[in-house]
Amino acid sequence: MQRPRISTNLAISADGKISSSPSRASGWTSTEDHHRLLELRRNADAILVGRGTLESDRMTLTVPGKLQQPLRCIVSRHGNLNPQHPIFQNPGGAIHLLVTAETSVEVPVALRPKLTIHHQTLTEFLHVMASKFHVGRLHCEGGGQLIRTLAELDMIDEFHLTLAGHTLFGGLQAPTATGIPGKFLPRSVEFELAHFEQCGGECFLSYTRKRPA
Ligand SMILES: NC(=O)c1ccc[n+]([C@@H]2O[C@H](COP(=O)([O-])OP(=O)(O)OC[C@H]3O[C@@H](n4cnc5c(N)ncnc54)[C@H](OP(=O)(O)O)[C@@H]3O)[C@@H](O)[C@H]2O)c1
Repeated sequence: MQRPRISTNLAISADGKISSSPSRASGWTSTEDHHRLLELRRNADAILVGRGTLESDRMTLTVPGKLQQPLRCIVSRHGNLNPQHPIFQNPGGAIHLLVTAETSVEVPVALRPKLTIHHQTLTEFLHVMASKFHVGRLHCEGGGQLIRTLAELDMIDEFHLTLAGHTLFGGLQAPTATGIPGKFLPRSVEFELAHFEQCGGECFLSYTRKRPA
C-alpha cells in the first residue's frame, strides 16, 4: 500500500518519559532541541499529531520562513477540537483532521470550513495523504498514543530522539514514546543508529527502521 515515509521526533527524560504529570508542554528541553524540531519539520510535506499533543502544546504546526508550509494533520477518535485553538488562528498549511471513530463526530460547525475532515482508519488516511495529496515525507510529533499506533502498524521509518538526560519525571501516568505504559507492542520494533550528536547536556539521536531484506 502506498504511504509516505514516516518519521517521528520526541524528547525523552532520563527515565524514558516524554512528559511530566500533570503534563508539561514541549519546551522543557533546550533551544537546540527546538531548532532541531524545526529542522525536522522543514523537511516534511505534512506534520501529524495526536489531538492530545495539539492541545497540551498549543501547536500551530508551522515552519518559520518556509514558503510552502507542510500540511497540518490531526488525529482524533471524535474530532472534538476547540475553535479557539492557535492552529485555527495562525496561517499555515492546509489542516486535515482524521476522525477514526465510526460513530458520533463532534467537529464544531464553526471549524468545518477551516479543515478537511477524513473519516477512516489511520492506515487509509496515510494512503490518501500519499496518493491524493502527494505527501512523500510525513513527520509525526507525537504524542505517545499516536506513536504507539504507528509502531503497532510498523510504519515508523525514522525515529528521532532528544535524550534529555538532565531531567527525571517519574510518574506512573507519565507518557513514554509509546504512550502510558501498558501492554507490550505485538512485536518489538528495531531501528539502527543513523546519527548521534552531543549538544550541551543532551544527545540528538536518529534511527532508521531495520527491515528484513
Ligand atoms: N517530549 C516530547 O517530545 C513530546 C512530544 C509530543 C507530545 N508530548 C507530550 O505528550 C503528552 C501527550 O501524550 P498523548 O500520548 O496523550 O498524546 P497524543 O497521542 O498526542 O494524544 C492522544 C489523543 O490523540 C488522539 N489519538 C492518538 N492516537 C490516535 C489513534 N491511533 N486513533 C485515533 N485518535 C488518536 C486521541 O484523541 P481524542 O481524545 O480526540 O480521540 C487521543 O486521546 C503531552 O503532555 C505532550 O506535551 C511530548
